[in-house]
Amino acid sequence: MAPTRKLFVKTYGCQMNVYDSERMAETLGAQGYVQTDRADEADMILLNTCHIREKAAEKVYSELGRMKPLKMAKPDLRIAVAGCVAQAEGEEILRRQPIVDLVVGPQSYHRLAEMEARVARGGTAVDTDFPAEDKFDHLVARPRALRGPTAFLTVQEGCDKFCAFCVVPYTRGAEVSRPAAKVLAEARDLVDRGVREITLLGQNVNAYHGVGEDGADWTLARLIRALAGIDGLLRIRYTTSHPNDMSDDLIAAHGEVEKLMPYLHLPVQSGSDRVLKAMNRKHGAEAYRRLVDRIRAARPDLLLSGDFIVGFPGETEADFQATLDLVEAVGYGQAYTFKYSERPGTPAAERAQVPEDAKDDRLRRLQALITRQQRAAQDAMVGREVGVLFEKAGRMPGQMVGKSDHLHAVHVAAPGIAQGDLRRVRIVESGPNSLGGDLAAG
Ligand code: 5AD
Ligand code: SF4
Repeated sequence: MAPTRKLFVKTYGCQMNVYDSERMAETLGAQGYVQTDRADEADMILLNTCHIREKAAEKVYSELGRMKPLKMAKPDLRIAVAGCVAQAEGEEILRRQPIVDLVVGPQSYHRLAEMEARVARGGTAVDTDFPAEDKFDHLVARPRALRGPTAFLTVQEGCDKFCAFCVVPYTRGAEVSRPAAKVLAEARDLVDRGVREITLLGQNVNAYHGVGEDGADWTLARLIRALAGIDGLLRIRYTTSHPNDMSDDLIAAHGEVEKLMPYLHLPVQSGSDRVLKAMNRKHGAEAYRRLVDRIRAARPDLLLSGDFIVGFPGETEADFQATLDLVEAVGYGQAYTFKYSERPGTPAAERAQVPEDAKDDRLRRLQALITRQQRAAQDAMVGREVGVLFEKAGRMPGQMVGKSDHLHAVHVAAPGIAQGDLRRVRIVESGPNSLGGDLAAG
């Protein structure tokens, strides 16, 4: 048998990268690699990268710089760059950082083992194709060790929306949905091995339209209803969604499918119609507000999450005020805020930019509002009874920590709770980062 080689994986960016990293580690596992959490003892280092904002992309080059001494000390150490920076920059990575041996884009992960073999023969390998075959047919979707009762499952990839700020349509390619039968098989397998909660992933997950088990085109709602039929699967979530793809059947599912959790990440990016138009979002602020009202009518206790960009080219103080107004009116339980970052090759990068100090100022003001809303949403849980799926032991003896239906961290001191248990919990306190509760009677 070949000697065991060690693989160190570092993942940046979104949850899809987390999912992909696990698949890649498994594929390399079949080549004899076992994972290590120490870069200094690795035979191969794999960085799974993100290109969404400039800072995210630059992190990769600083990390590679830090890895130089490791490569000097061990010349046959293999260094691989995967993910969206790999896709966007390709060969350029080898030029900028010659310690890199292998560059692989998100659609070519199934070729990783073959590329690694090429590198072993003494070359470099770059693959940023968008091949016709389905990488998921070739990637191992069966991690040996699951990390707990929750798992991600990619059902859709890529994006056809072309928001003017975004690299995703270029790095992840056109929208593709996996067939429902494959998703269901993967979900059943996860559940057989102890998973109780599945988060369906896609860059535009609510645009899912995979071929169904009956040969018809299935929507995300249809897929969710089929998944809800799996015994032992207790919770379903999905992320991330575009407002224009929140179809009636998906909204209805929020009211009807008990396993579908009352939490929705529905980015709007800006509250100004002018900016939304310039962003090519293809909807206005009022339409978004009406949509949220309809979803909340279906599921009144829904906790809403979002993404916001401040300082998009052309954004004025009045536009920014419209974003603050929208946030005030809608009310978020959670949200991510970003300063606009110029991405090469995207339309907005060519436009006149907002000065950095204005961006900083707006980011601070928006973050303050969102933090206040987040706090209020968390505090409002006190006195309520919610479901909690327990994931691991807490810091205190006898304590277990899990996530509520609304994705709040909850700690409970109660003997006899096991990882993977879903229990009703009465929330009694709201701390800085988590809620505390007691098991509800019955
Ligand atoms: N600059 C800043 N934020 C961006 N996002 C996407 N592209 C950019 C960019 N160029 C944000 C959006 C998106 C989230 C994943 O990242 O808010 O929803
Ligand atoms: Fe980053 Fe987008 Fe790529 Fe995810 S898909 S890693 S968020 S650039």
